[in-house]
Amino acid sequence: MNDSTLLENYSRAPVRFVAGEGCELIDENGRRYLDAIAGIAVCALGHAHPGIAEAVARQARRLVHASNLYYHEPSGELAAELTERSGFARAFFCNSGTEANEAAIKLARKAAYRRGERERTTILAFTGGFHGRTLGALAATANPEYKVGFEPLPGGFAWAPFNDVGAIDAAIDERTAACIVEPVQGESGVHPARTDFLNELRRLCSERGALLIFDEVQCGMGRLGDLFAFESVGVRPDVVTMAKALGNGLPIGAMLVDAAYAEALQPGDHGSTFGGSPVSAAAALAHLRIRDALDLDTHVRAVGRYAFERLSELALSFPSYFDAPRGRGLLLGLPVREPYRAAEILGAARDRGVLLGLVGGNTLRIAPPLIITSEEIDRLLEAIRAIAAGMGALAAK
Ligand SMILES: Cc1ncc(COP(=O)(O)O)c(C=O)c1O
Repeated sequence: MNDSTLLENYSRAPVRFVAGEGCELIDENGRRYLDAIAGIAVCALGHAHPGIAEAVARQARRLVHASNLYYHEPSGELAAELTERSGFARAFFCNSGTEANEAAIKLARKAAYRRGERERTTILAFTGGFHGRTLGALAATANPEYKVGFEPLPGGFAWAPFNDVGAIDAAIDERTAACIVEPVQGESGVHPARTDFLNELRRLCSERGALLIFDEVQCGMGRLGDLFAFESVGVRPDVVTMAKALGNGLPIGAMLVDAAYAEALQPGDHGSTFGGSPVSAAAALAHLRIRDALDLDTHVRAVGRYAFERLSELALSFPSYFDAPRGRGLLLGLPVREPYRAAEILGAARDRGVLLGLVGGNTLRIAPPLIITSEEIDRLLEAIRAIAAGMGALAAK
């Protein structure tokens, strides 16, 4: 195999995976890795889940594509499931998180336009937020590092400090079409939004006529211990965007819209050739049924609590290396005091057969398949503990 003609826009590790099973990935030499990052918060039910494989195969034999100019069974059924479970009125399907956010940005602006509020175009986002790589979603992303060399980006975006309750009053005005926020920021280093911050955001958006968009691309689909992150944080937005885990690895994104804004996008306003394709939608439907049967939310809350406690102990054992963990459910971050050590631990963990993520420059991200067991959490923690001990830190207590 030769990978040398792939565009080098990722810093790929020198490992080639050929298969997966449960929480493990298997490389070309047959070596097994505990995947504690789940393909970046994607494979909630683990790898090669037989129920997903069967749903995909069955749908592929029946109908792969028919376009969005017609109805087809899986997307309508998936929209019905998601709206019923969320209480939102309508669903739009696309292929990724960035596209779901593009749709939400366009919907917010069009909703204001249809009301005759032509000046209401600003999308307010927050420092540390990450919303994707297409130009619109990138424009909403605060971190300038992602934007270098891609300017000019679309205008009409503004930012306020994340979790700063006092700052949002001045930031939301009659020009604000929408506020977009992650209930738990992922890429910035796993930072949960404060409840008082989200409550105040909700209050001000309602008072001033701006839509509240929750970007649940990373933290949704059960990762916080409820199907939707808005349920976990107890604040209801007007629009929810999702992707990543929705199809358990099949590419599908979604935007769920409250009844008040369901008419904002009319035929011709927005679309996607592949969005909600029968095979991806069938995978998402199977995902919903399997997670129900497993009572995955109860499992995530229990294992998430266990993982958080174990991570807290680990951080206390090596205070010169780690700060206290952050996160909720199974979206957890372990901050490493020195960024270079975080990269070292990431590589050393991979050498020991454990895959982690690295976000926010210095934070180890743990976003495993939601089916992970407490024994697998122990395996992960033991790997980090052994690496830290080997780094010559203060002896583990
Ligand atoms: C919160 C959030 N929004 C949007 C995106 C973009 O999703 P995608 O890579 O599917 O376009 C990501 C990806 O990491 C994300 O974490």
